[in-house]
Amino acid sequence: MHIAMVSAECAPIAKAGGLGDFVQGLARELARVGERVEVILPAYDVLRFDALERPRPLGIELQVPFGGESIVCRVLGLSLDGYECRLIAPNSTHGFFERGRIYGEPDDAERFAFFSRALVEYVSRPESRPDVLHCNDWQTGLAPVLLAERREALGRIPVCYSLHNVGYQGWVEADLLARVGLDAARLLTPDRLADPGDPRRANLMKGGIAAADAVNTVSPRHAWEIRNTEQGMGLQSWFQRYDYKFGGILNGIDEAVWNPLTDPLIPANFGPECLERKALDRQALRARLGLEEAADRPIIAIVSRLDRQKGVELIAHGIRYGLNAGAQIALLGSAIEPAIAERFARLASTLETHPHAHLELGYDESLAHLIYAGADMILIPSLYEPCGLTQLIAMRYGTVPIARRVGGLADTIRDANHSTAPFESRNGYLFDEPTTESLETAMDRALGLWRDFPEYFSRLRLNGMRGDYSWRRPAREYLALYAYAREASGVGAS
Ligand code: ADP
Ligand code: GLC
Repeated sequence: MHIAMVSAECAPIAKAGGLGDFVQGLARELARVGERVEVILPAYDVLRFDALERPRPLGIELQVPFGGESIVCRVLGLSLDGYECRLIAPNSTHGFFERGRIYGEPDDAERFAFFSRALVEYVSRPESRPDVLHCNDWQTGLAPVLLAERREALGRIPVCYSLHNVGYQGWVEADLLARVGLDAARLLTPDRLADPGDPRRANLMKGGIAAADAVNTVSPRHAWEIRNTEQGMGLQSWFQRYDYKFGGILNGIDEAVWNPLTDPLIPANFGPECLERKALDRQALRARLGLEEAADRPIIAIVSRLDRQKGVELIAHGIRYGLNAGAQIALLGSAIEPAIAERFARLASTLETHPHAHLELGYDESLAHLIYAGADMILIPSLYEPCGLTQLIAMRYGTVPIARRVGGLADTIRDANHSTAPFESRNGYLFDEPTTESLETAMDRALGLWRDFPEYFSRLRLNGMRGDYSWRRPAREYLALYAYAREASGVGAS
């Protein structure tokens, strides 16, 4: 099957968070089992190629109608691990993807609406037509709408739409629809793009859901939460009308990228059979962050985008509480929202000379690897978490998660004390309420076990390391979802 995946991110060349890991991991596994996979991205100026080949022009020129103009885009290509990557590069006078970052621009809606329009032009070419198009998040929500509108001319291309973050739905002014050639008056209805909060505005994610043949979010628990609780962010009751095409598929992690036995980015490789070597990474982490050697203090890590979703208040509280309780703190955090960035910059400078805490602000892939390898626990107090990969990566590196019982965190972490799961599959700590008291109780339990029963704490680490977080099962489930999308769209299952 020819699968085209379209997204704002794909690791390692364009990653801001878990969406990048998702596309890379799923594309690689689908390619490994023999599918033809194409990942389509904007040609950002911040793409990171490092040791990879440079993209080459494919000799394809797209004429993309946008805002009354026809914007020329070149398509570049490079081969990644078993799959092909396509980069859409508009002529430089528009500068949509020359901003020095992936997201966070005031005109993000326009940039990604343009990308969706260009993508539709690309898949409309007979040579590029996929058997299924897999769209992701609000940035590509317009693509299913545009394809549905061109159905008569184009025929049907089955579309699967994955929601990674319902907190960002792509709320835009209605005139943007006209700029991509859509009839705003006809589409701005409650069953399609009109936003329930302000029906004069368009909601791109909502439009994508209505038009797609199959929809999913990235854990079964979150699929339930967004249809039945306020985590639907205003769309909960609306989602329910699509129960027939709505599912939850738990993410995997790419076990080639995230493997402590082979990871080239950590000084000492280790695994369940040689867990003692983790101490060398702990030492290296302390040296890298300027933390004092302290055998009686575990390291609590935070690796996060520092978005409100991630529970920034609870993270700040957890840092102070952990320090008072005798732990060390290693935080790596990237914030886009200025108020959050400033707040953590202040906290980092207050703790600058603290012997037991270091807050590194920014995005740093290799430091992230060292933190997962060197830390003892990782704090993930998210307000909502569609899946969460940091807990999976941490567990693979013998670092025990302390997390809120929501979304994919609840689906993957089995509490050390309060669980019906057998002891050998318990792998972390969960708390329920998004309150400091609830967080403290979980931290106390984890710190107590580390201090008083180290051999049991090691068992928790090992249980986590032995879990199967690979993309094998999820990739099979996506293939089934693609088959469902093909059937639902009337083109047949394969
Ligand atoms: P989200 O996608 O909501 O950010 P996930 O847990 O799914 O959350 O994925 C986060 C991914 O981004 C992980 O690979 C994590 O290691 C990485 N990450 C998050 N923040 C940073 C950072 N500041 N520097 C490096 N990597 C980061
Ligand atoms: C989003 C979610 C995160 C998920 C990731 C990949 O960024 O916040 O929970 O793991 O997408 O699906």
